[in-house]
Amino acid sequence: MADINQFTITEAVKKSFRTQEGSRFEFLLRSLIDHVHDFARETNMTHEEWMRMLTFLYDCGKISTPERHEFILLSDVLGLSALVDMINTRGGATEGSNLGPFYLDNAPRKTLGADLAGPREGVSVLCHGIVRDSLGHPLPGAIVDTWQADGSGTYPIQEAGQDKYDLRGIFEADDQGRYYYTTVLPKPYTVPYDGPVGELLRAGDRHAWRPAHLHYMIRSPGMRSITTEVFFENTEYVDNDAVFGVRKSLLAKIVPYKAEKAGDLPLERKPDAMLKFDFILAPGD
Ligand code: BEZ
Ligand code: FE
Repeated sequence: MADINQFTITEAVKKSFRTQEGSRFEFLLRSLIDHVHDFARETNMTHEEWMRMLTFLYDCGKISTPERHEFILLSDVLGLSALVDMINTRGGATEGSNLGPFYLDNAPRKTLGADLAGPREGVSVLCHGIVRDSLGHPLPGAIVDTWQADGSGTYPIQEAGQDKYDLRGIFEADDQGRYYYTTVLPKPYTVPYDGPVGELLRAGDRHAWRPAHLHYMIRSPGMRSITTEVFFENTEYVDNDAVFGVRKSLLAKIVPYKAEKAGDLPLERKPDAMLKFDFILAPGD
């Protein structure tokens, strides 16, 4: 029997798994073993630290529910979600950003020009733009699926007694690839920090705030779908988002509403402000 020590154990563990040769699973598993073992070796991990780490993961599992996925939140505050978004952004396409926990896949269909805000308080804003391919051609019929917090930083889905489908909608771009609707400007809000991830943030003297943003999922046949967020220039926390979602290319400028500047779009409600953001999709599935 070959002796095993702290330098040979990594290969022994990798070999112990009989995975399909050359498969993606094998590649991921081996890489994970390499990195986890290197982490322990590099840090000279003590038993107490090892147990503290495992207890932290156990606590993440314990507080998780179908509505609250603490491991995703952990991935978010560690910047892993943002890194995966960056890795999977295609050249020329709009950069991807956090899906977050509040997406619903069956939001109501809305007609272009509709108002998502209803009687809610806050600054009424026109959100508009064009969905294009990476060569600049408009994509008529592209699907613009959006969801957001309200003018106090709360998602209706978080509040008992509110309609969880409020402040969200699915639009179909017109024959020029245009989308347009009015809504209320969202406010910044905090990610949940009453659990182990909150403890981690406090241990690192970090806050839990996200800058105000609009979520989007954009689809068009034959194109690679994107999930992203639009943020607002010069607003609170755009320079220190708790989940690292902000990219320069995702910042939009809020300006006073001028009907002619927006192209005299037919709107259900006259807004106070407007912002333009074009989405670019790369070819794909
Ligand atoms: C959000 O944008 O809704 C969100 C993202 C990450 C964690 C929590 C909330
Ligand atoms: Fe959000």
